[in-house]
Amino acid sequence: LASSATYTTPPVAMLLGPDNAGKTALLTLLERGTAPAQTHTSQAAHAVELSASTDSASRTSFRNHDDASGTHTKFLLVDTPGHAKLRTVAMGRLARADKLRAVVFVVDAAALGERDALAPAAAYLYDVLLHLQKLATGSGERKAARAKAVPVLVAANKMDLFTALPAAMVRAHLETELTRIRASRSKGLLDSGVGVDDVGSEEQHGWLGEYGSEKFTFEQMREFDIDVDVVGGSVMAEHADVDKWWWWIAQRV
Ligand code: GTP
Ligand code: MG
Repeated sequence: LASSATYTTPPVAMLLGPDNAGKTALLTLLERGTAPAQTHTSQAAHAVELSASTDSASRTSFRNHDDASGTHTKFLLVDTPGHAKLRTVAMGRLARADKLRAVVFVVDAAALGERDALAPAAAYLYDVLLHLQKLATGSGERKAARAKAVPVLVAANKMDLFTALPAAMVRAHLETELTRIRASRSKGLLDSGVGVDDVGSEEQHGWLGEYGSEKFTFEQMREFDIDVDVVGGSVMAEHADVDKWWWWIAQRV
């Protein structure tokens, strides 16, 4: 739009992840800077404008920086509904996001020990990572449009609960499940007798991570310049522990 020349869209960080993970609670906490609000199941995407600063002095404060120093960066934090039936809302918002700088994939670390929670969370993460991988390997206009590959933070939430898995376990469980999903979705591709070198780029395009590898690891996303970090925290605990996530976002917007 020619008339929008003077209007600059702020960079975007997106909150994705399964329902009940704590996305909306996190958004309200960051917006208020004090305590999270009571939440209800989200049915639509919702964006708020926040200001982040990478001043080391503010490193340990998630408060929305309303500073006068001019060193802050305004960005949009976009919350999305996690319910599987609303997946098109979240994925659509992701696909449309202009100036996407970061994806925060929130999971309930206390639920991931259960297969019933792990399988759908990993399936969702698989779709998100494959989308970002395709963006990063896209050609032509799309490639030119992306400034750089979009990094992913897996925010392992609800660490205040005693059943919560530590971040390293969350990472291991997700990688194992992603390996399983990749194998089933790519069934036939590798045991077709075609060597890795003979496989067309079309097939490689649909394979998450290092082509032909047996086990999926988040490290493999580095090949596409996509960093994936898994960091624990909690939104609703007596003392919220989200500074590491806030700092991660602040450095990327
Ligand atoms: P959808 O909107 O359905 O996608 O879920 P959501 O990811 O937005 O989850 P929401 O923020 O609504 O939080 C779900 C529930 O988890 C709420 O009851 C929160 O109070 C609770 N919750 C969020 N973060 C934490 C946390 O760190 N610890 C604990 N114990 N509970 C949390
Ligand atoms: Mg929500």
